[in-house]
Amino acid sequence: MGLRQVTVAYAPGKIILVGEHAVVYGRPAVAVPVTQVRAQATVGDAGKGQGITIVATDLGQRLLLRGEEGWPSEDPLATTVIATLKYVGLSLEQDLTITVKSDIPIARGLGSGAAVSTAMVRAVAAHFSRNLSPQEVSQLVYEAERLHHGTPSGIDNTVIAHERPVYFVQGQTPQTLAVGRTLRLLIGDTGEPSPTKAVVGAVRRQWRRSQGRYESIFDEIGEIALRVRRSLEEGDIAEMGRLMNENHQLLRELDLSSPLLDSLVTAARDGGALGAKLSGAGRGGNVIALVTEEVRPEVERALLSAGAERVIGTEVSPGREGSPSMEMSGKLARRDRRAV
Ligand code: PMV
Repeated sequence: MGLRQVTVAYAPGKIILVGEHAVVYGRPAVAVPVTQVRAQATVGDAGKGQGITIVATDLGQRLLLRGEEGWPSEDPLATTVIATLKYVGLSLEQDLTITVKSDIPIARGLGSGAAVSTAMVRAVAAHFSRNLSPQEVSQLVYEAERLHHGTPSGIDNTVIAHERPVYFVQGQTPQTLAVGRTLRLLIGDTGEPSPTKAVVGAVRRQWRRSQGRYESIFDEIGEIALRVRRSLEEGDIAEMGRLMNENHQLLRELDLSSPLLDSLVTAARDGGALGAKLSGAGRGGNVIALVTEEVRPEVERALLSAGAERVIGTEVSPGREGSPSMEMSGKLARRDRRAV
């Protein structure tokens, strides 16, 4: 029996508070990490000459990467590993077993793809004792996101790699936000997939046809994101709830809701939520409801009886913000020696 080096790293999910879709057209959006669910990546040394094996338990996927030849360029998991090894200046001739798993529901607007990639980047870098800043992690994850989503705005990789509430405008340095007061959210899963790439493509086609109308709705959504940022920082959750409701109405006008999403939104509001809206690409996926401690059980019941497949509760507390640029990936991963 020998000892082999094993490195484990994690990454949370994310949820968009306001600004989805408009963010693809240059408007701001606000998103927060969801730490109640997470992806995990484990990197272990493999025997000499074995190459790199990626085992994705939940995706039923097993990939073998050997040598510089024939690496699958269209696979997000392989892309993440290749991009990370190259970025930290290592050859692709490694002997590693990389295992990924995740309890983040897939294609529900919770950033499962970006979370898996983030955990992988952190684990691979830390395995070779390389420290990456959240900004560097985010950029590497963006490479894989492009394979998932086509033209992603970059909000998923940003909020997940920073693990902070983020005010995000495409092409600008993301701003992490200080939360004025604990934010309690319920995420109601419709159980229906929300295929981001297809929905973003459909919006693009509509935008081409009615550019003026779409641009002015995007402007309104951008204005909402700006005001949500302010209310988040000031801890004005009543105002934030109203703004979420307004955002949902605008997303309906863009034809991004569905009967089930609308029912869940109405049920959450009737149950006492301060605000509720669809979140993410829409046409399926999730709704989010802003709640207080008092109304939370009632809103959860209301969501379930209106047809939510499950409800995930999450909180964003004032204590969570900090200086993410100082927090290196090495601190977010754990290295161990295990008997094999
Ligand atoms: O399904 P999600 O949460 O990854 O939503 C994507 C959000 C969009 O604004 C629709 C697309 C994007 O790349 O920002």
